[in-house]
Amino acid sequence: MIIEHTRTNHIHNPMGYLMEKPVFSYKVTGAKGKRQKYGRIRVAKDSDMRGIVYDSSEREDMDSIAFCADMQLEPYTRYYWTVEAASDAGEKVISDVSWFETGKMQEAWEGKWIFSELNEGTHPIFFCNRDIKKEVQNARMYISGLGLYEAYINGEKVSDEYLTPYCNNYDQWIQYQTYDVTDMMKTGNISIEVLLGNGWYKGRFGLDEDGTTEKLYGDTFLLIAEIHLEYGDGSKEIITTDESWKARKSPILESSFYNGEVYDASFADETVYPVRIWENPIAPLSERLSLPIKVKEILKPTRVIHTPKEELVLDLGQNHSGWFQLKIREDKGKKVTLYFGEELQDGCFYNGNLRTGKQEYTYIADGREQVIRPHFTSYGYRYVKLEGFEHFEENDYLGWVLYSDLEETGWIKTGNPLVDKLAENSMWSQKSNFLDIPMDCPQRDERMGWTGDAQVFAPAACFNMDTYAFYRKFLFDMYEEQKSRNGAVPFTIPACGQNSSCGVWGDAATIIPFAVYQYFGDKSILKEQYESMKAWVNYIRDANGDDWNWRKRFTFGDWLALDSHNEKMPTGGTDTGYLATIYYYHSTVLVAQAARILENNDEAEVFEKRANDLLLEIQQEYFSPNGRLCVDTQTGYLTALKFNIAKDKERIKEALRESFKRNEDKLETGFVGTSMMCDVLSSNGMNDLAYSLLLNEECPGWLYSVKKGATTIWERWDSLDDSGHFSTSGLNSLNHYSYGAIVEWMFKHSAGISPRLTAPGFREIDLQPKPDYRLGKMDAKYDSPIGIYRSAWEVTETHGLRVNVEVPFGGRAYLRLPFAPESVYENKGNPIFAKVLKEDGYCCILEAGSYEVEYKTTTPMKAELGVHSPIAELMAQDKTKEVIVELLPMITMLPQSMYDRSLLEMLNMGKKTIEPSQIDEINKLLNKAYA
Ligand code: BGC
Repeated sequence: MIIEHTRTNHIHNPMGYLMEKPVFSYKVTGAKGKRQKYGRIRVAKDSDMRGIVYDSSEREDMDSIAFCADMQLEPYTRYYWTVEAASDAGEKVISDVSWFETGKMQEAWEGKWIFSELNEGTHPIFFCNRDIKKEVQNARMYISGLGLYEAYINGEKVSDEYLTPYCNNYDQWIQYQTYDVTDMMKTGNISIEVLLGNGWYKGRFGLDEDGTTEKLYGDTFLLIAEIHLEYGDGSKEIITTDESWKARKSPILESSFYNGEVYDASFADETVYPVRIWENPIAPLSERLSLPIKVKEILKPTRVIHTPKEELVLDLGQNHSGWFQLKIREDKGKKVTLYFGEELQDGCFYNGNLRTGKQEYTYIADGREQVIRPHFTSYGYRYVKLEGFEHFEENDYLGWVLYSDLEETGWIKTGNPLVDKLAENSMWSQKSNFLDIPMDCPQRDERMGWTGDAQVFAPAACFNMDTYAFYRKFLFDMYEEQKSRNGAVPFTIPACGQNSSCGVWGDAATIIPFAVYQYFGDKSILKEQYESMKAWVNYIRDANGDDWNWRKRFTFGDWLALDSHNEKMPTGGTDTGYLATIYYYHSTVLVAQAARILENNDEAEVFEKRANDLLLEIQQEYFSPNGRLCVDTQTGYLTALKFNIAKDKERIKEALRESFKRNEDKLETGFVGTSMMCDVLSSNGMNDLAYSLLLNEECPGWLYSVKKGATTIWERWDSLDDSGHFSTSGLNSLNHYSYGAIVEWMFKHSAGISPRLTAPGFREIDLQPKPDYRLGKMDAKYDSPIGIYRSAWEVTETHGLRVNVEVPFGGRAYLRLPFAPESVYENKGNPIFAKVLKEDGYCCILEAGSYEVEYKTTTPMKAELGVHSPIAELMAQDKTKEVIVELLPMITMLPQSMYDRSLLEMLNMGKKTIEPSQIDEINKLLNKAYA
């Protein structure tokens, strides 16, 4: 038995994070026992754990997912902690020592914000030199810089983080980072240098009426820092930013997220400029919430392409976001430029889908051979065009994939490589867009925290990665924005110049915290966000008035749906007022549920009542007295079932099925309908349709993009047409995660792993795999907060099923075997049937362990063939072909174009009527041949 994955506030050994109380978590693996008997957390101020400052004592209710220690934290302090856990099999183990360290907390800053008088556009380097006379035992750097900064001591970068101090509304708060710089503080003269560049605070970023804005939050490069030194003799000293610092011009001539960077290595102006104290008001500094952005992966070019236009292009093989490392061997004064794009067009480089974004990197060589990289930008790309190079060698270039430091937690392997690739693409779109904020896309002139996109993708994101800390920061920012807007949630978080708010998008304020609670099981997120959730629904209530204004207000609705009527504003064919209203209802329900969970029963009642009133109004407005939904679209029915608003559910199910039939079972949904489509279908007895939609390889469908070579999720179903050309619409990114929400269905329905609301954080799960023979097999692993669950099914050679399940220590699965005959449960020798509940069918209760069962299913796991099957399907197998040729000897003479007709149609063409008994006979023959 071992204890691993120890986290404080869901982060591994966090240093200088915003923290009121620590919340500890850990996972137990390799135990003989099934559950924890007790746990005990101890916190000390020394790594030997002698000076204990907190001891939970042995607690049977010790929660391994989120144990909040009620302790008072001090600033500038490293706390060490261990957890001891015992299992129900008598095992006992103590974890390795983990730590967390507080930042300045409420301590005032001695360092001052400084700026230089270099003109606005000039990128500065702030620097100072100091003599370190004594041996340093411990040193911390507390630092922030605007727009973005990179700090160096004696020429060495102080951390492996990039794009600090990260992205938030800088008018409300500014994050600083804490670095352990002890090893860099050698005795003697040290130089401290800080490079500043544009980013989110200043430079081209955000949307305004002209498309983009230059100075969202400020126009001056600013720096603040303190280095706290503790000497071996016990004395202390602080190096602070003040007027003794100096500035010089940086070789970085230009930088911005949208445009890229210009770096002049031959730049030789060493002129020293004074710095001054910035006296103007600036938002308060705070410990960070942002996870570090790091180089998470490195990609080697997979191809060097010489295009028909004689361009030199590298293919990184994977669309992603980040930058590069490049060996430069060019002569002094030589200017080279790199251009970044997502897809070739007719074999040539293309970046026409970036709108006004440029995504370039220009470098002027100084004649020295060196390895370079950008500093204050990032690129969304798969292809890079190199221009102006005289001395380029293939191995000179490496792609650095940058994203927030998140761990992958979900893995999917099925019987269909295209589906596997789709799941992978969803993961890659998450990696590409989780760059401190959940962005819509990483390449064009947007890259903003669009709330609608974030909302629809959140559950899939929680399966893919451990996103607790990431969303916590995003949601914190959301509430900050709401505070000055009477609860309204702007289109994007941070607002970055946007002031409008709308339904469905703004409902991210309730949907995301609730999803995070459900997936990670830590109530703190609801505690922290409860006021924000409430503020959002109260804002809608006020905006709604007595006149139902909310439904008249603009919303992006079912954005980009194929049933949209207006190409310029594709809000979908579903009544946007209906969508805004039912999301309002859904948000109110979530607030009520959050209140119950937080044991705020008075408020829960208030919101429950409001939700009930709303439901009645919705039923009056949008349903006929007989129960027909007046919003006759796929998304209309999907949302009605998802949010449970119909009086006559069966009728809505039928109408949903009809809505697909009349569109030849093709989807026409956008962001809203698509994100829940397969989930709703599988939850409402239409699992076969969910699979048909998933497995459809034509446009519109997920696998169309995969077949076209996509390595990330496209913004539109038809982002590229059949010939691989970009669709002509202005909005066309190949890396937009919204439709990647299908991964949630893969885990929840196909594999069947679903968190139980009564035991959030996967302490208990409903395990209801929903197989379909067309997929062949599904093998899903999810590293949940409690440990790894695995759910796998496979169609056996005899068209039955083999099911494999793994349940982690402390977890519990309520398994409902798909298509299992009653006799299966009699096999008491198999541990999977050790505890079976007969309640609404059979349910196996599984504690920690691995399980396997193979059985003959009630319905064979293969296609049911019959007279209604298309001729093409029947002719595809030798044995069924024999039957057809016997019945219709002319069949092989007929053109292939007739093969999409059913056997019955063909038979009817020859004879007038076919008797039902003959139909049965033929069906039997066919299925016998197929078996
Ligand atoms: C973004 C979207 C976003 C939308 C609002 C677009 O430009 O890329 O994904 O949600 O605007 O409709």
